[in-house]
Amino acid sequence: MQAFTQYTPTKIIFGKDTETQAGQLAKEHHASRVFVIYGGGSVVRSGLLDRVTASLKEEGLAYEVLGGVKPNPRLSFARQAVKMSIDFQTDFVLAVGGGSVIDTAKAVAHGTANPDTDIWEFWSRKKTVEKSLPIGVVLTLAAAGSETSDSAVLTNEETKIKRGLSTDLNRPVFAVMNPELTYTLPKYQVGCGIVDIMMHTLDRYFTPTEGNELTDEIAEGLLRTVIRNGAIAIKDSHDYNAMSEIMWAGSLSHNGLTGLGAEKDFAVHQLGHELSAKFDIAHGASLSAVWGAWAEYVYGEKPERFAQYAKNVWGIEEDDIDTAAKKAIEKTVEYFKSLDMPTCFGEAKEVGIKTDEELKKMADGCSYGGTRSIGSFKTCDQNDIYEIYKLANK
Ligand code: NZQ
Ligand code: ZN
Repeated sequence: MQAFTQYTPTKIIFGKDTETQAGQLAKEHHASRVFVIYGGGSVVRSGLLDRVTASLKEEGLAYEVLGGVKPNPRLSFARQAVKMSIDFQTDFVLAVGGGSVIDTAKAVAHGTANPDTDIWEFWSRKKTVEKSLPIGVVLTLAAAGSETSDSAVLTNEETKIKRGLSTDLNRPVFAVMNPELTYTLPKYQVGCGIVDIMMHTLDRYFTPTEGNELTDEIAEGLLRTVIRNGAIAIKDSHDYNAMSEIMWAGSLSHNGLTGLGAEKDFAVHQLGHELSAKFDIAHGASLSAVWGAWAEYVYGEKPERFAQYAKNVWGIEEDDIDTAAKKAIEKTVEYFKSLDMPTCFGEAKEVGIKTDEELKKMADGCSYGGTRSIGSFKTCDQNDIYEIYKLANK
């Protein structure tokens, strides 16, 4: 087990009607002027936004509301939001939505606390975030895990670069999680969420680090739980227990727990971000579209690890390690298909790759022009990335 630091400061308030506590929770965290952010309108239609602002009013808090965050949230929108937030003299940022809204809220918190810095300087690593504002979350979609994670992902639409920023200042101070708020999700978003939750653990589970029993058991248990309840949720998004399991798993899968003591891989996320940046495909779909190709390409590095995954997650009893590994890859891909998620580029309607040149361009983008490798289970350079995209291009 490698040395690690575990820091998950987010207070979780889980259960029915918990959104009515948003005002009180913000006040506990010394809010007086709250900047509320939401997305394309689902929270207006469901009445959630009204319930949240009513709870702010009840606590005597001043607030400003801004909607319009798009999936794969855009830098230009975040910049505008920062300006508004500075003018409002925000001291607390409240996200009401999914990962895109939460990540925009994180950008607003950093931008407001650092009014002389363009926020992209943080995402492009030119500057380090050293102070920010507290962020609260009312979660409407179990997927990205941003409600407890240290990460925030933005897309610079001018350069078509999608990039994450990791800092403990991204960790929200509270997350309100009412599974009933996810009932209105379209089936496609439920599927995307299940894939993303699985992937946050898979991208940690496939690691070169050996001997990490407790972390492995937690990861395998989480995956089994998500697979089982995902099959129910995809058929019925009003199943309270299934949606609860998935929602809680979403937070645990990306707060660090399922990879403690091990080197992270996260290659699949990097491969997917390039797809989303170029084609604006939903994050979960970008991951399912490349996972099978990635697994096929890398499993030979350590087939024993895939065999362990086969046995402990999928219950595959198979003595031959190579066969077990391949069966587990097949099972995972079949599972994504059962959720109606794309498992290759041909099944992803947004992805319009036609030529080999385009695949090379994608590999160039993902490797930052050949200046970086991705992953740790197998370190993949620009050529490996190209080979994986090629395998996915069917
Ligand atoms: O915008 P509205 O109208 O709310 O509709 C959204 C959006 O169209 C809809 N939706 C959300 N909750 C709903 C709902 N529709 C009906 N009922 C509800 N209860 O779902 C659509 C997708 O929303 P979005 O926030 O984009 O989805 P998700 O939570 O999957 O977030 C994806 C973003 O998070 C990033 C992704 O890259 C992507 O940009 N990620 C962030 C991470 C982090 N900060 O730690 C880690 C992840 O790996 C990921 O990269
Ligand atoms: Zn993800």
